[in-house]
Amino acid sequence: MVITSTVKEPEEQGQSLHCTFASRYVRDPVPKFKMPGKSIPKDAAYQIINDELMLDGAPRLNLASFVTTWMEPECDKLIMDSLNKNYVDMDEYPVTTELQNRCVNMIAHLFHAPIEEDECAVGVGTVGSSEAIMLAGLAFKRKWQTKRKSEGKPYDKPNIVTGANVQVCWEKFARYFEVELKEVKLAEGYYVMDPAKAVEMVDENTICVAAILGSTLTGEFEDVKLLNELLTKKNNETGWNIPIHVDAASGGFVAPFLYPDLEWDFRVPLVKSINVSGHKYGLVYPGVGWVVWRSKDDLPDELVFHINYLGSDQPTFTLNFSKGSSQIIAQYYQFIRLGFEGYKSVMENCLENARVLKEGIEKLGRFNILSKDIGVPLVAFSLKESTQHTVFEVADHLRKYGWIVPAYTMPPDAQNIAVLRVVIREDFSHSLAERLVSDIEKVVKLLDTLPSPLSTKAAHITAITNEISDEKVGNSAIETQKEIAKYWKRLVDGKRVGAC
Ligand SMILES: Cc1ncc(COP(=O)(O)O)c(C=O)c1O
Repeated sequence: MVITSTVKEPEEQGQSLHCTFASRYVRDPVPKFKMPGKSIPKDAAYQIINDELMLDGAPRLNLASFVTTWMEPECDKLIMDSLNKNYVDMDEYPVTTELQNRCVNMIAHLFHAPIEEDECAVGVGTVGSSEAIMLAGLAFKRKWQTKRKSEGKPYDKPNIVTGANVQVCWEKFARYFEVELKEVKLAEGYYVMDPAKAVEMVDENTICVAAILGSTLTGEFEDVKLLNELLTKKNNETGWNIPIHVDAASGGFVAPFLYPDLEWDFRVPLVKSINVSGHKYGLVYPGVGWVVWRSKDDLPDELVFHINYLGSDQPTFTLNFSKGSSQIIAQYYQFIRLGFEGYKSVMENCLENARVLKEGIEKLGRFNILSKDIGVPLVAFSLKESTQHTVFEVADHLRKYGWIVPAYTMPPDAQNIAVLRVVIREDFSHSLAERLVSDIEKVVKLLDTLPSPLSTKAAHITAITNEISDEKVGNSAIETQKEIAKYWKRLVDGKRVGAC
């Protein structure tokens, strides 16, 4: 593509310059460290950046992500129209604040918060589930500390009990806010937190147990009801009052529509707060999450800032100050546009397309399916036989067809299992599912014709092979498989952001 510009170089002054983008701007390296001294025309700046961005993956083929990649043009328009609105200016943009409050109310009702039909719920819009989890964690920590102080007990060693399948944002919370994360280890064939083991791990310093509705790794729902039963028993025996938080980042907008009778939310008495990502199955572009509390009593008032908004009190509890308004407006659009009926239909479609993909992959006869039929619509699968080739190679070869499918190893104690995961979003159709199966088949057939990476002479492979053979002459197939998984993990760590 050619872009014309009328900018004049000093040596060309006096002449009307008709220079092309290619001849003038692309010759110089793009600025990477220091802001350039001179301006360039807007169309050239656009072209340079746009051309580089072409090398990013195509978001709609990014099957690694739960995050929304398609919305209706009407909503795109609302988003564009509100890009210049700072959400924090509540006095200036009272309607936007009102839309946020309406979304909080709708989500709290969806999650069966014990509030009246027209009562305002306690919750807030966030940048995503990560911020929502930080806020929920801070509320638990402060409540626990206040109680311990009043009892004259030490309050400097708070902990949270979770499964080892927890998403990285919990580790961030733990590190940033000085809370120990006690992780229940997984086991081969069991990839979520075992409620019985979690309850064994709690102690007087446990500020909450975090259960995941829709494990990031396999989409499986953890058993919140059983956790509640076991934890209630423990609380009664010990006099502790340990609550539950549900991380419903991806499952919070799936379960109410597909499994309305599943009790995982505020119907379960110990559940005091829930986070959900608006930008996942809430069907909004990236940048919105939500946290809701059971009641006012579960959010310590000292964490809440009160803003005077049109003469009335607008409580706020967020980590940052300024942020965009568009995603909040887009969330409200989706709620009123789709309604319960629309969300149910979208989730049913996703589930059906997940079924098509799962059955197609099963038919290939080369993979084990690890995801469950009840859960977030995704398909997680591992190679039945991975001593010759690995899921990491499958993922790499799928890239050549345009698909971005993440491959990763499971957390402890299931780290010898390496999986591929395909998230089914609203815009992933039946025909794309069939195409993906056909491309996976081609990749598997191709790999059958290629030597195993362990038998090639490539330096990086040789290094690991030596390492393996030095230590493990006469390894069993399972041990070899573990070593291969470890090698690949090392290779891809740092390159991949991991499961998100
Ligand atoms: C279970 C779980 N919790 C939290 C998060 C973080 O969510 P967000 O990207 O909305 O910050 C994710 C992301 O995938 C997740 O799967």
